[in-house]
Amino acid sequence: MSKKRIVIAGGSGFIGTALAVEFCARGFEVIVLTRAPRLRTDGIRELAWDGEHPGEWIQCLNEAEAVINLAGRNINCPHTPENLRAIASSRVNSVQTLAAVLDHVKTPPRVWVQAGAVGFYGDTRGELCDESAPNGGDALANVCRDWEAAFDVAKVPQTRKVILRIGFVLGREGGAFPVLARLTRLFLGGAVGDGGQYISWIHLGDLVRMFAAVVENEKAAGVFNAVAPAAVTNAEFMHELRGALHRPWSPPVPEFAVRLGARLMGSEPSLALASQRCEPKRFRAAGFQFQFSKLPPALQDLCSKI
Ligand SMILES: NC(=O)c1ccc[n+]([C@@H]2O[C@H](COP(=O)([O-])OP(=O)(O)OC[C@H]3O[C@@H](n4cnc5c(N)ncnc54)[C@H](OP(=O)(O)O)[C@@H]3O)[C@@H](O)[C@H]2O)c1
Repeated sequence: MSKKRIVIAGGSGFIGTALAVEFCARGFEVIVLTRAPRLRTDGIRELAWDGEHPGEWIQCLNEAEAVINLAGRNINCPHTPENLRAIASSRVNSVQTLAAVLDHVKTPPRVWVQAGAVGFYGDTRGELCDESAPNGGDALANVCRDWEAAFDVAKVPQTRKVILRIGFVLGREGGAFPVLARLTRLFLGGAVGDGGQYISWIHLGDLVRMFAAVVENEKAAGVFNAVAPAAVTNAEFMHELRGALHRPWSPPVPEFAVRLGARLMGSEPSLALASQRCEPKRFRAAGFQFQFSKLPPALQDLCSKI
């Protein structure tokens, strides 16, 4: 019997690399759509696409079990109007391109899992957001709204559709966590701003299992918050991280220093200052088993191996 196939668009990055390895280990044939395909020796195949136009790659969608779309320009850059346009268009275009080609595929994938982000809710300070909470209306929230809207209007009647609104992903090999850990080791791991902003984090291992769960669960459809059950404040997060890295104290980092540091590092201060306190209501209702539901063990796991 031939293997079930998973196609991961934008699967060359931080989350996609972990997903590809996991689905491969689960016995799937894995194909990654990327703008810069490489020849790999780990059984994962990469195909060229540009996220905007149909191409040869369409064929891999025929009879695929699932398509997962992670494509989008990284948000870790200054959020100038120009960068925000590029962040938005890379996401909306990839969704629209997939939607358009799926219409022409004879046997389309049974499920399309689309990445979204908890940035959808905007800066909500301490307010707890489940999946029914409204859109936030700030610049990044608008990007998330347009990204999801493109997915919502996609007419793919034979394909189940799921969006994961992903929180701050903690992993050793990418994303912001290794940078935070490095700064903390240098005694620069103080609470950021007033420290009261919430971080809706998720361990990469649990996120990967969430993707697998919604691919496998035929009843899963619509929006799911992909976050751990216990969002924490920035002050709590940094306290736990310092503990895990044996750095009992670091000076707090006031907002002006965050803004200056972000400018020097070519980043965006609002990424560290905005607050999102989200709960994974639908994953919990579906009985999802978290391996890391509390922050201290998640950080112990990550810090013991870096
Ligand atoms: N990491 C997090 O904490 C987090 C949190 C919330 C949401 N998310 C969302 O989850 C998705 C995956 O995140 P990630 O951390 O794995 O990001 P990543 O490492 O930056 O990977 C994203 C991939 O998108 C592709 N890409 C970049 N610009 C593109 C463009 N203009 N057109 C088409 N493809 C483009 C790249 O693949 P190629 O260069 O190979 O084409 C890249 O490997 C993203 O949409 C992100 O917004 C991530």
